[in-house]
Amino acid sequence: MEVVTPYLCKYKGYIFAVGVTTPEYIDSLQTFEIRDSDVFLVTYPKSGTVWTQQILTLLCESDCSDEVIYDNNLEKMPWLEYPKGHSDYASRPSPRLFASHLTPTLMPPGLKDKKPKIVYVMRNPKDNVVSYFHFCHSWVPLETPSTFEDFMGQYLAGVVGGASWFDHIREWYSKRDQYDILFLRYEDMVKDLRAEVLKISTFLGKNLDSSAIDRVTERATFKNMKKDPKANYEFLPSDMLDREKGHFLRKGIVGDWKNTFTVAQSERFDQVFQERMKDLPLEFIWDID
Ligand code: A3P
Repeated sequence: MEVVTPYLCKYKGYIFAVGVTTPEYIDSLQTFEIRDSDVFLVTYPKSGTVWTQQILTLLCESDCSDEVIYDNNLEKMPWLEYPKGHSDYASRPSPRLFASHLTPTLMPPGLKDKKPKIVYVMRNPKDNVVSYFHFCHSWVPLETPSTFEDFMGQYLAGVVGGASWFDHIREWYSKRDQYDILFLRYEDMVKDLRAEVLKISTFLGKNLDSSAIDRVTERATFKNMKKDPKANYEFLPSDMLDREKGHFLRKGIVGDWKNTFTVAQSERFDQVFQERMKDLPLEFIWDID
């Protein structure tokens, strides 16, 4: 791994926090055996991963007759790129659930046979960078940014864990025909959570009745997830998450960027966004009335 900063390293164009994985492990994903029944959740960091993870784990809850009871959502839907805990993947009952922040190039090639389902969640990058900025204060492996201005510069340059937001979206979106993939927007989930839960359920081929959809929706609200010990990530050890400084479930709103960006920062961001995204037919929601 190429050292980028004392906290970040680069491998095959992607940026990892130091110490979370190894080149050998990432390379081993090239021969990782995918099952048709696998379900993947893919996001750029801070786009609503743990939220969608809660929805997916709840929707898949009753699929397995011999279901193993996991302590929390992270155990049930581990991150593919981190070696910790991967030893039992081959023996896990189907459907196996995985989360990942990786780009398509680093993912197991077996994903391309279009059988495993992939849910990709994206979030408008202004709220995304603000969420990420706050997260860096509480996530111990990452450097605490000195100012938002500095962090925004690193984010726009793609020198943050997960590399460039722009590249992540572009790579997944432009390769969408190779996968069985559903694109969701964080903001649509905020606007109408039930509709998005139903959309995911239909994509997974579930035939859940209306009350089951209601139950999943209720358990995925910000308020309920915040007090759900399996879903709120407060179970992480304090050498990963410094609870004095922040939480995974922080605000959970659209448009919080307006409380952080200056007008000049917003204009600069818009300019980069325009340049980098102009040829992609994607629309983002920057605010909700
Ligand atoms: P904020 O920091 O803007 O509050 P990730 O899981 O990818 O790390 O994303 C974290 C972001 O998702 C945080 O955003 C967090 O509050 C938000 N989030 C998590 N659960 C949510 C929920 N049930 N409803 C709305 N937002 C949620």
